[in-house]
Amino acid sequence: MVKPVSGFSKLSKEKKISWLISNYCHSEVNISKILKSYWNTDAKLQQLHDEFIENTISNFYLPFAIAPNFLINGELFTIPMAIEESSVVAAASNAAKFWLDRGGFKAEVLSTTKNGQVHFNFFGNKHELLLFFNTIKPKLLFSITSISKNMEKRGGGLLDIVLVDKTKDLENYFQLHCTFETLDAMGANFINSCLEQFAKTLQEEAIHFTPFISSKARLDIVMSILSNYVPECLVRAEVQCSVSDLTTKEFQGKDFAEKFVRAVAIAKAEPRRAVTHNKGIMNGIDAVVLATGNDFRAVEAGVHAYASKDGRYSSLTHAEIVGDQFHYWIEIPLAIGTIGGLTSLHPLVKVALEILQKPNAKEVMQIIAVAGLAQNFAAIKSLVTTGIQKGHMKMHLMNILNQMQASPIEKNKAVEYFKKNIVTHNAAVTFIEDLRK
Ligand code: MEV
Repeated sequence: MVKPVSGFSKLSKEKKISWLISNYCHSEVNISKILKSYWNTDAKLQQLHDEFIENTISNFYLPFAIAPNFLINGELFTIPMAIEESSVVAAASNAAKFWLDRGGFKAEVLSTTKNGQVHFNFFGNKHELLLFFNTIKPKLLFSITSISKNMEKRGGGLLDIVLVDKTKDLENYFQLHCTFETLDAMGANFINSCLEQFAKTLQEEAIHFTPFISSKARLDIVMSILSNYVPECLVRAEVQCSVSDLTTKEFQGKDFAEKFVRAVAIAKAEPRRAVTHNKGIMNGIDAVVLATGNDFRAVEAGVHAYASKDGRYSSLTHAEIVGDQFHYWIEIPLAIGTIGGLTSLHPLVKVALEILQKPNAKEVMQIIAVAGLAQNFAAIKSLVTTGIQKGHMKMHLMNILNQMQASPIEKNKAVEYFKKNIVTHNAAVTFIEDLRK
């Protein structure tokens, strides 16, 4: 039986690994050797990674790839992507190439407001609470002067605070709903610091507010935190071309456009399809969010909430044919930063931002939205034509070959053979086994 451990975070890395192995690892596999094989030989670089989080015992690699040929608002971008799924970068590159010949992508940031709330209970007269809020609002605004000084210098800061009565949803529940402009910062630390200061000021002022004292009203802070739901921080990316321009060697433009629009309509109507449809979009979005050092969990949570904004989980992309024009677009909320957080720490994030020509947060929002749209385009294009497995298995072939520890010669032969034959797991295994006979 494993016993609880105390003071674990203070142990050295070696000791942590020894403790782990003696308590949890009973296989023949040399866990220590594997963990250490991923340590960086550059001790300073390793220390940087060790210190990102607590109890680091190794590094967990993801491939860092680039997808070229993205024409966005008339400029050519190569997009860095960090992702493990075989076919995602290939699909992005294909979609980029497809639209390169058809006018490219247009992208636009529609809004950049972030938000957070001080959640509190209030037991008393609602009119008194409103009077209290209006009386102390200047004090609330003043209370964050030192926190917001730098952000204000750059042109951002708090936009507003409003008192919201949430008692219809939950008894005695109110909030201060606060809105912010955080410019090129994702802004989580700034927002949370402001909110915690508002909570403190709110609580202190409530204790001394005379009408509350006489009516025995009570105000209790529950918590203060930013919201990862940012529907006022929106970006849109789109493509458009004439239906006949969609014609390729494999399909007629009109047939393809109609089937494509129908596939999007199904994702709008059927949540089970919408989830997979949007998962494909997130393949592109997360990969760029990660590569640029942003918080993909925050983005995921916010984007999926947005997909449900009309009361039912639905497609994040939209498509229609108007006259002879095919229109296809995405609109998503994204809280993105190009300063602060990992952006100035992780060497590969610096490289990713350099590849993107040192963009500001708005530009990264546009690029991410385009990556999501391109990924969805590639997925639907496959789904309504050849099916998804053809391209996916072609890319997955290398994983199967690696699982079989194929030699470079075996790999070359397999790649050649499967140029003309359908890849399945079984077919790949049989091919290598036959080679080895
Ligand atoms: C696979 O990672 C993503 C897809 O399933 C997306 C989709 O079905 O639209 C191919």
